[in-house]
Amino acid sequence: MKPRKFRSFAKINLGLEVVGKLPNGYHELKTLFASVSLHDLVEIAETGRGVRVHCAHPGVPGDLTNLAGRAARLMRSLAKTRTGLVITIEKRIAVGGGLGGGSSNAATVLRALDLMWGLGLGPEGLMEAAKSLGADVPYFLFGGPALGRGRGDEIHPLELELRDRVLLVQGAGGVETAAVFRRFEAMGGPGRAASRIDAFLRASAVDPKGQKTLELKSLRNDLERAARDESPGLAAMARRVRRVARATSATHAVMSGSGSSFFMLFDDAAALRRAQGALLGEGVGCVPCGFLSRRSYLRRFEVKAPARRRRAPSEGR
Ligand code: C5P
Repeated sequence: MKPRKFRSFAKINLGLEVVGKLPNGYHELKTLFASVSLHDLVEIAETGRGVRVHCAHPGVPGDLTNLAGRAARLMRSLAKTRTGLVITIEKRIAVGGGLGGGSSNAATVLRALDLMWGLGLGPEGLMEAAKSLGADVPYFLFGGPALGRGRGDEIHPLELELRDRVLLVQGAGGVETAAVFRRFEAMGGPGRAASRIDAFLRASAVDPKGQKTLELKSLRNDLERAARDESPGLAAMARRVRRVARATSATHAVMSGSGSSFFMLFDDAAALRRAQGALLGEGVGCVPCGFLSRRSYLRRFEVKAPARRRRAPSEGR
């Protein structure tokens, strides 16, 4: 069978609130996820024996710890098959950057093998495997705007229309998630302020379009202060991003996940281009992209080979 290729999209956290601590030591989150058009490519070939993962990026493990490889092994046991698999990942999403790249790759393998092997499991049937792989993996079974609760792994898809243009400033990683949460605790832990995400959701339920830009602006990432304290490089990037955001009328500029990437939102293309130019002028790479609705997240999953053109009768053999 020919190898098949899939898009593995990145996520951003439009807002992230730490609301408490769970008995298992994890933190309880309330987060607003969104999918963006930036994606890795994941090719799956049925060949050989066992599961192998290839990726040219030095930060992606090729051994048994690779999340995509672990996802493939879980699917082999769910499908009760020993089919050999070679998974090749083309990385575009920053590794360890708070954009969910590794988790997205794992969810892509779950969804792709469900499709390729005709298992019909869908998000519900894949959920347990996704949760066992990591807190961010379940979100990628759904994509699009969604609320994440619990460890961020209880997903409630939302009907929100996000039209803003996104400029991603991909971090170079190096900020460990566990260290950011530890620092967050040392700084006093969860606060008591009313949830801005709840207020946003109430407002968008009343008027999904009219209120959206106004309310998105109010969202925050509770982990940003801890991440800035943890990493002087990230703190410097936060200052730079905020300065460019102010100068170019970005509607929002926030860190994603536990860092180290940031994103800016714009309601017009010219302002985004100005911000992109300003950052590039300072030697900071950034990627313009768009939000994906759940529908386009699902529809754009597989990279289809272009349809073969039929030979016109006048064309010779
Ligand atoms: O999900 P991931 O394995 O990347 O998380 C790394 C660490 O971050 C966890 O072991 C935990 O210490 C911390 N964490 C947390 N609460 C979460 C997610 C992560 O405390 N919701």
